[in-house]
Amino acid sequence: MKTALITGITGQDGSYLTEILLNKGYTVHGLIRRSSSFNTGRIDHLYNNPEILNKKLFLHYGDLTDTSNLNRLLEKTHPSEIYNLAAQSHVKVSFEIPEYTAEVDGVGTLRFLDAIRETEIKTKFYQASTSELYGKVQQIPQDEKTPFYPRSPYGVAKIYGYWIVVNYREAYNLFACNGILFNHESPRRGETFVTRKITRAAARILLGLQNNLSLGNLNAKRDWGYAPEYCEGMWRILQQDEPEDFVLATGETHTVREFVKETFSWLGIELEWDGKGKDEKGIVEKIDRELLEKRIDWSENIFNLKLNGKIKKGTTVVEVAPHYYRPTEVDLLIGNPKKAKDELGWEPKVRFKELVDLMIEADFKKVLQRGY
Ligand code: NAP
Ligand code: GDD
Repeated sequence: MKTALITGITGQDGSYLTEILLNKGYTVHGLIRRSSSFNTGRIDHLYNNPEILNKKLFLHYGDLTDTSNLNRLLEKTHPSEIYNLAAQSHVKVSFEIPEYTAEVDGVGTLRFLDAIRETEIKTKFYQASTSELYGKVQQIPQDEKTPFYPRSPYGVAKIYGYWIVVNYREAYNLFACNGILFNHESPRRGETFVTRKITRAAARILLGLQNNLSLGNLNAKRDWGYAPEYCEGMWRILQQDEPEDFVLATGETHTVREFVKETFSWLGIELEWDGKGKDEKGIVEKIDRELLEKRIDWSENIFNLKLNGKIKKGTTVVEVAPHYYRPTEVDLLIGNPKKAKDELGWEPKVRFKELVDLMIEADFKKVLQRGY
């Protein structure tokens, strides 16, 4: 039976990967951080299942900044596969805590690889590398051979992680691989990343819980895919005979503005855009009340929420707040997943519109069920 160790198990990807590996019959060990409040929300459905917890799923306290803890964990769990997903993963925040980001995202990867080398455990190692490595892109679309040009302390820390994986593979013959994943989203995406911030805010605005949505750069373009499919791709990367690096992406790119437009459109609200740069606004142009009513399953509404009566043609629902701008921005990401398709048989199925729809639908439901 295979045993996996997942760092970042409480995050978006960690939670999906855990489900995937448990379904494939793995025993899963997860590294969790001690937190002053609950941080297991995304895995509670597994954690609270007595058939799973401490039978197929085991959780261990630890931190990527704690070397002795990682060594002990490897010796205790003897994983056949390791998925290093833990990171300070917020790009904007990395400008405020660059040193910590480097410690966790860069040196943390080295700590793990070195622990494998020291303990001589025979295992395969997956590193959560990122399209942020391409930053100020040197080629369109980006693939495994595109030169890197990171644009944030996060990107720079992750580039260390990327190269130390390559180096330990070549120097010590470790089975270590980089998955260079483009943005992937889901209803479990952290609420401060732009997609989730948009879908959650749209639901709250429509239900009168929030007045409007403040965003930064509306022109940034991203290649957004669906997280569970990318987690399946991580697993496939480690099932190869030889360790190699792979890009996972959809090959499609859209602006943040398009994501906003598509989200409101699902709710029957057509937006028009007025002004430029920091003065740009998203204004209600048309409301299809029938569609809106159809979208809402009022039986979920235990808090007796009502549709926001103030929203009409001409209402401003989106504004730009320059404090969300980044000191250096990644303007355009679009990946070429050809190698993953050819060698892993991996192909994304959920495309942009479907992704937006499933996220706004999930957030609408959540707000109706929770009342916030
Ligand atoms: P996420 O939701 O932010 O999850 C990050 C996880 O890392 C959480 O479980 C977090 O624990 C844990 N963590 C943070 N600092 C840690 C530390 N010092 N020691 C141990 N654990 C720590 O991120 P995600 O979206 O699932 O992404 C997973 C990985 O893929 C990350 O490495 C990210 O940088 C990378 N990546 C993500 C994307 C994407 O679009 N999602 C694309 C490319 C690469 P808490 O729950 O306690 O905070
Ligand atoms: N977070 C956020 N909040 N981003 C905003 C906002 C806002 O209010 N307004 C505009 N944006 C723009 C950002 O400037 C960026 O260009 C884009 O939306 C996407 O931002 P995020 O959703 O924060 O994601 P990211 O692309 O910076 O980083 C994510 O994807 C990377 C892969 O490319 C993270 O998941 C990283 O961990 C991951 O490596």
